[in-house]
Amino acid sequence: MMRSLKARIVLFLGILMIVLTMMISIILLYQWRSLILENQRQNALAVARTFAASILDGLIYQESGLLPNEGYLENQIHNFLGKNNQVRWLVMYDRDGHVAVRSSFESSDPGDAGEAEALPPAAGRTGTRIYRSRSFGWILETALPLQIHSKSWGELHMGFDLEPARARLQRLFFLIFGLAVLFVVSITAFIWFFINRVTQSLGRLVTEMKQFDLDNITPTQMKAGEDEIGVLVSNFEKMKQRLQQSRQQLLNAQRQIYHAEKLASIGRLASGVAHEINNPLHGMKSCLYAIAQEPRNLPEVKRYLGLADEALDHIALIVQKLLGFSRQHAKQTVAMELNNEIEKVLSLLTYRLSKNQIIIEKKFQSDLPLLHADPHLIQEVIMNLLLNSMDSMEEEEEGGTIRITTARNGEGHIHLEIADTGCGIDSRDLDKIFDPFFTTKDEGKGTGLGLSVSLGIIESHGGTITCQSRPYRGTTFHITLPIQGAK
Ligand SMILES: Nc1ncnc2c1ncn2[C@@H]1O[C@H](COP(=O)(O)OP(=O)(O)OP(=O)(O)O)[C@@H](O)[C@H]1O
Ligand SMILES: [Mg+2]
Repeated sequence: MMRSLKARIVLFLGILMIVLTMMISIILLYQWRSLILENQRQNALAVARTFAASILDGLIYQESGLLPNEGYLENQIHNFLGKNNQVRWLVMYDRDGHVAVRSSFESSDPGDAGEAEALPPAAGRTGTRIYRSRSFGWILETALPLQIHSKSWGELHMGFDLEPARARLQRLFFLIFGLAVLFVVSITAFIWFFINRVTQSLGRLVTEMKQFDLDNITPTQMKAGEDEIGVLVSNFEKMKQRLQQSRQQLLNAQRQIYHAEKLASIGRLASGVAHEINNPLHGMKSCLYAIAQEPRNLPEVKRYLGLADEALDHIALIVQKLLGFSRQHAKQTVAMELNNEIEKVLSLLTYRLSKNQIIIEKKFQSDLPLLHADPHLIQEVIMNLLLNSMDSMEEEEEGGTIRITTARNGEGHIHLEIADTGCGIDSRDLDKIFDPFFTTKDEGKGTGLGLSVSLGIIESHGGTITCQSRPYRGTTFHITLPIQGAK
């Protein structure tokens, strides 16, 4: 599926933003979490150290008998817990690692959790750990040795409530997550808006390019700005102008080739035409001679003048046809009858056809619809094909046959077929015959342009031309032309 440039850029930037924002959020959250926990740890240790100092004082007083052994520590702990509600439980181990005193005297308190989960006495080292207690949730446990120099009374373990810090962290998480989502959404929306603006003009340029029609080049509607798209627009405009010029040059060159090719075929017609003109000229000469013999025989003079006039008409007709054929025209599409145009071409070839004993078989559909085409160009194609057919039978002693068929082909097309019984085309040459300058004829006999020019003419009318041929059997050219002309 083709995705638009806009969608691809937004998708790419969107994913990039999400990944980057997620990474930054995770790093931030992790840092804050570490900071908050470190803060908690330091606070907890400070509180624990203060309490441990007062406990140590009590223990020294007890040993020196200044304080009673019974109930003193329990009282201290009770008072301490009453004042520090962030401390959830408290355990004091003696020197041998047995519980000496503990805060919880009821079964639901951390004592059970504490006993089961509290750090084991750590042999005189200060330590902390975080764990999840069944009764109190998240707890930060501190372990402090009760020790002065080498004398030890055991260890003091305290469990601090971490739930408020955890709730703070959770709020922070939601805040960062919310901000990240907001950031990604707003940046993506901004990118979308921005790309939209950029691609809008690009999209307009794409539409202009899609609508570009070589046959109908119109100036670009867009204004060329100063950015890269503006450069594209102005270059597109320049390219269109250059294309238009080249196209015009190409059309001119094509017209000149058509004309040159036409003149070349006239050259080849010349001997036939000269002969056609020669006959009536001889006739006229005979008439003039006869008049000169009997200038007073008025009825005979009249008859001979009539004959001479007919001969002159005939010559004028031939010259007119030749001129009509050779004149250079810009392509002019008119409604024309194909059968008529074929007849006109045949009339120029009469002499050569009869000289080479070539029989023309016409299979014309009489009610053929009118074609919208340029009659001069269509004549040129027919002339090229007929000359080729005649050339292909030149060597034959018994001449040959050219069958010309016209018919309506389906709804919108006319089919013209020119088939000869000539020498045929070698299968290796068959796909080259429409190439310009391809010829198998001797130098001076063929330019190799006839079929390529014909192909150009037929295609410019929206038609097709194909060839079938079998060596020594003959060749058939098929032409289809749209009745309504090229689109
Ligand atoms: N009806 C045909 N029978 C046999 N060969 C043909 C026929 N039509 C075309 N050819 C072959 O195709 C070649 C190209 O034909 P094309 O009309 O383009 O050039 P040409 O006849 O050689 O020269 P010209 O420019 O004078 O027409 C010919 O040289 C010939 O070999
Ligand atoms: Mg030819």
